[in-house]
Amino acid sequence: MLYNETMRSLKWSTSHAVFVPEIDDEHREIFTALSSLQKVLAGRGSLVEIRKVTQSLISCVVEHFAHEERLMRAARYGSMRWHKQQHDTARRRVGQFVPGIEQGNTKAGLELVEYLTKWLHDHTRLSDRMLGAFLRNQQRFMCKVTFRASTKPIEACAWVDANGDAFDPQTDESGS
Ligand SMILES: [Fe+2]
Ligand SMILES: [Fe+2]
Repeated sequence: MLYNETMRSLKWSTSHAVFVPEIDDEHREIFTALSSLQKVLAGRGSLVEIRKVTQSLISCVVEHFAHEERLMRAARYGSMRWHKQQHDTARRRVGQFVPGIEQGNTKAGLELVEYLTKWLHDHTRLSDRMLGAFLRNQQRFMCKVTFRASTKPIEACAWVDANGDAFDPQTDESGS
């Protein structure tokens, strides 16, 4: 990614939205932390400052991945393995830049910013968006079941498929 392109993309925008407020808030925080690291590196901040900003970025990322993994586990998300493998790759790669940054290597810092910015653009727009859709559908389904179950027998509950469309489990043999 070109330098100017990286700078432009250091901001969260609605193109990254997964429409689950707690996840979107954390993505925004990661973009803010990335932008802070870029600024401190470009402004030739002190090593103490660079280390502090790097550590804060790393904890944002690590906590966010752990949070999404808790949500996936709790929701029994079918694509969790695939999604977590992407987190594992990013965790490993990010960790490789840290020793250099800690020793004052500005290039390692800029490479981290570039790597993570590109990774976030790709990951939030596909994998996190898929997870967001699944969590929203699940929440909608649970609300329907709770609402219908309180007023009607269980047979009368509304069923929705993964796309949020109604289906009848008695007649729909494809299950889709
Ligand atoms: Fe994710
Ligand atoms: Fe995420």
